[in-house]
Order: sequence, then C-alpha cells, then structure tokens
Amino acid sequence: MAVLNDKILVNDWHVVGHVSALDATEIMSVRVLGIDVVVWRTGDGCVLAWKDLCIHRGVRLSLGEIQNENSLMCPYHGWTYNAEGRCISIPAHPDQQPPEKARVEAYHAKVERDLIWVCLGTPPDYTAPFPEWDDQTYRRILCGPYVFKAHGPRIVENFLDVGHFPFVHENTLGTRERPEIAPYEVVTDAEGVTASQIRIFQPNPDGTGIGKEVEYTYRVFRPLTAYFRKEATTQGFAIMLMVTPVEETISHAWMWMLMNHSYDVPEQELRAFQDHVAGEDIPIVESQRPELLPLDLQAELHLRSDKTAIAYRKWLRELGLTFGTA
Ligand code: FES
Ligand SMILES: [Fe+2]
Repeated sequence: MAVLNDKILVNDWHVVGHVSALDATEIMSVRVLGIDVVVWRTGDGCVLAWKDLCIHRGVRLSLGEIQNENSLMCPYHGWTYNAEGRCISIPAHPDQQPPEKARVEAYHAKVERDLIWVCLGTPPDYTAPFPEWDDQTYRRILCGPYVFKAHGPRIVENFLDVGHFPFVHENTLGTRERPEIAPYEVVTDAEGVTASQIRIFQPNPDGTGIGKEVEYTYRVFRPLTAYFRKEATTQGFAIMLMVTPVEETISHAWMWMLMNHSYDVPEQELRAFQDHVAGEDIPIVESQRPELLPLDLQAELHLRSDKTAIAYRKWLRELGLTFGTA
C-alpha cells in the first residue's frame, strides 16, 4: 500500500520551485505528499514553508499578504503570523495578546542549487553529490517540472532504464538498428545504487543533433533522486533528477541538465529537447500497471539489461520505502 506518510519521504527534501519563483509571486502555494504548503520569503531573505492553513478558520495563508516584510497576514480576518510562525496580531481584538498556541505548523525549507526545497519532517543533513555543478565549464539548464500522473518510483526507474531508448526515444537517444545492451556494472552501497560503463550509440544524445557513442554512469542517491552522466571523448552531459511526490499519483519531475559543450546552442533549444524526451516518457510511465513499483522480484520479468532496475528495487526494499511501491 502506498502511503503519503512514508517515513523516508517525510524526512527528505523535496523541490518545490526555482528560487526566482519567489521574486515573481512572493508567496507560493505548493503541495508535497498531499499537504498544502505555503512558501514565502522575509525581507532578509529567509525562506519559510508552513502548512497552508490558518489555524483560526482553516483559510489558505497563501491567499494572504506579507506585512512589513516579516510576517504573513491571513486574508480572512487578518490574523498575522511572524517569521517564527507565531500569531502576533488578531485585529478583532487589538488589546488582546494572541494565545500561545496560535501558531502555524512550520516545516523546513532551504535554498540549494538555486532551488527551493521543503521537508515536512526532520530533514537529512545531505546533498546529493553533483560534481558538474561545481565545475565552472558546465552550463546549467533547469528543465521541468514535468507532471507525471504516476508514482515517483516508476518515474525514477524509467530514468534509469536504457533499454527503452531505441523505442520511446527513437532517433534521439537510440535507434532500432542498435537495440542491444551490452553487459554493464551495478554496485549498491551506503551511497545508493551506481550503474556504470553502459555504452550505447545515440543519434542525438543531447539536443545538439550530433550522433555519438556515449558511456553512461547512473547513480541513485535517494529513493526519488537520481543522476546520470554520459560522456563522449571530452564532452560531458549530466542530469540530476529530483522527483517531488505531490500526491500519491501526481509527481513533479525536476531536472538540472548540465553540459560542458555546445555553448552556441540556445538554452531554449536544449530545454525543448528535454521537454520532447520527457513528453515521450510520460504516456509510457503513466500507462504502467501496477502503478506501484513491485519490490518483489518475482513480480514482472527481469533480464540482464534490467540490472539497474533490479538493484533499485532491492535497495528500496532494504530502505523500507512504502510510498509508490508494492
Ligand atoms: S481564518 Fe485566518 S484569520 Fe480567520
Ligand atoms: Fe525515457
């Protein structure tokens, strides 16, 4: 049974937007694991995430307004909450000190890699390694969020699957003339799952339109965070996939796409390429039944080329992930 209160995901960070989103709207309304969350920023740049609910009559605080750059006012009766989440003003009773228990439910928020992250429980002190991010020769393009009406683990497994390239991404990430997958390495350790030395020919591996023989390395760091790097000679291309569980069957797939070549290709073109690839994956993943990823390896059939998926399923089982799995 999939549950939204999965301990691992409640105590993990989830991407809810690019940091620039707060410049435009000031107050964001997002959803994580079925919970409505209001995200806003104080004048001194502190990003806050609270349950999007005024404790007076349950109105959405995201409909309210920021007061004096440091407090959030409910739109219904004007109760105002300071940055600590405590109610400091009840306009109907100006002489009365708001009761101590008049507080919002506050969550954790952080800004990292230009993204806003929210954790509903106790956040891990952890950031997935992303060497290309720290390398100045890499250009960064944010893609998504791609909306999948599917459970997160199915989306991650699709991301790890190279066998579908010649069929789902024909003429870009694969070709039906060369569908075979040579043996490759998979290791599971304390850091997660790593699959390496996966060599394939791609007619258009990165949106530049130039075909290459590439070598992939995949890594899964968290149940819904995965990465790949592919290279051909000195050209590197990497994607960090961060899947946010919005609801049980609605997921937002965010991707940081980094590459150290083809600087002359406009960013929009490269993003359009990734949009196209995701657009090919979405109907396939949404069609998968069961929707929950079976962790029992007796369910579904596995072949040598599914080695990464097998390791991912085993690892999720060891971790005890209940969300999106069966
Ligand atoms: S519902 Fe928020 S102030 Fe009344
Ligand atoms: Fe795909």
